[in-house]
Amino acid sequence: MPSLNLALMGFGNVGRGLGRLLIEKRAELQRRYDLSWRVTAIATSSHGRAFNPDGIDLERALELAEAGEALDVLSSRPTPEGVAFIRECKADLLFETTPVNYETGQPAIDHLEAALRGGMHAITANKGAVVHAYRRLTDLAHEKNRRFYFESAVMDGAPIFSLWREALPGCELRSFRGILNSTTNMILTLMEDGKSFDDALDHCRSIGIAETDPSGDILGWDAAVKIAALVTVLMDTSLAPDEVDRRGIEGITSEMIEDARRQGKRWRLICSATREGDRVQASVGPQLIEPRDTLFNVTGTSSSVTFLSDALGPLTITEESPGPRTTAYGLLADLLNAVRR
Ligand SMILES: NC(=O)c1ccc[n+]([C@@H]2O[C@H](COP(=O)([O-])OP(=O)(O)OC[C@H]3O[C@@H](n4cnc5c(N)ncnc54)[C@H](OP(=O)(O)O)[C@@H]3O)[C@@H](O)[C@H]2O)c1
Repeated sequence: MPSLNLALMGFGNVGRGLGRLLIEKRAELQRRYDLSWRVTAIATSSHGRAFNPDGIDLERALELAEAGEALDVLSSRPTPEGVAFIRECKADLLFETTPVNYETGQPAIDHLEAALRGGMHAITANKGAVVHAYRRLTDLAHEKNRRFYFESAVMDGAPIFSLWREALPGCELRSFRGILNSTTNMILTLMEDGKSFDDALDHCRSIGIAETDPSGDILGWDAAVKIAALVTVLMDTSLAPDEVDRRGIEGITSEMIEDARRQGKRWRLICSATREGDRVQASVGPQLIEPRDTLFNVTGTSSSVTFLSDALGPLTITEESPGPRTTAYGLLADLLNAVRR
């Protein structure tokens, strides 16, 4: 396989996690898949851009980014920003890891579209792009004989989209129920241990799992977008995030947590969707759950979803304690699935 030129749009928790994973697995990728790579382009919002067709020193880029310094010193020449940067970098594959925009999916959609039009595979962890442009970007990818993959958009690196795409042909998804937002689950777990809401949120920020603007997690938007992504892709029914009946955990107090504990129960932010004829009914909201519920022991950053289909019994996928590295793995799996075809 020829060496792949990789471009990274976004170099935050996830983009840097991917950089570290690529370095760690360089020899393994070569040995098992005959795959070699170099990163030729990295763009951020306020920490500059680097472009070098001969390959950027990725370890140095990680050091600079982690020190909060600009990447421009690694560039072989000045570059334009945004979509023009993607057009000019002429990579083989773009990883898009900019912050999610729940309302429009932008600018990620434009980034992914520019990559596909430029003949690159387009891979993202950004659920906004999936919800707002899944059909359009998938059709464009087919037209260009490229791949638009987004495994990390829901449940980080756990195989959800690839499972249904590759392993469950002819199986119709009827409904699902689960815990899909790590930040709120971690906050509820830490509040059960006696931490205040604000301290628990600070902890989520410190381990890199809170969204860039964490109000999206707290108010249930992140979970609603993930539900909409699952419904749109796996149930083949377009569902906008604002069509999800949505409540967040902003009203859950330490007293409510303690009261639940005395009853042997727990508060969890529960996501669900059910097909009803041509429509899908979807909701997210806090629920008091009992110990016999499969979601009772899903704690910390863990997430879990149970799928009900026409062909299998309940199928549950649980992801224990994911973090940005797990999300980075989902991106790497997408890369391998895209180029091995
Ligand atoms: N963190 C997780 O565990 C996780 C899990 C699953 C999915 N995701 C998704 O992964 C994506 C990235 O998350 P993250 O935690 O890595 O976010 P983050 O730490 O805030 O990093 C975002 C990166 O994107 C850059 N950026 C912002 N706007 C840009 C633009 N217009 N053009 C180029 N770069 C731009 C930022 O630049 P600056 O550094 O200059 O601000 C930063 O490097 C999000 O869509 C999120 O929903 C995250």
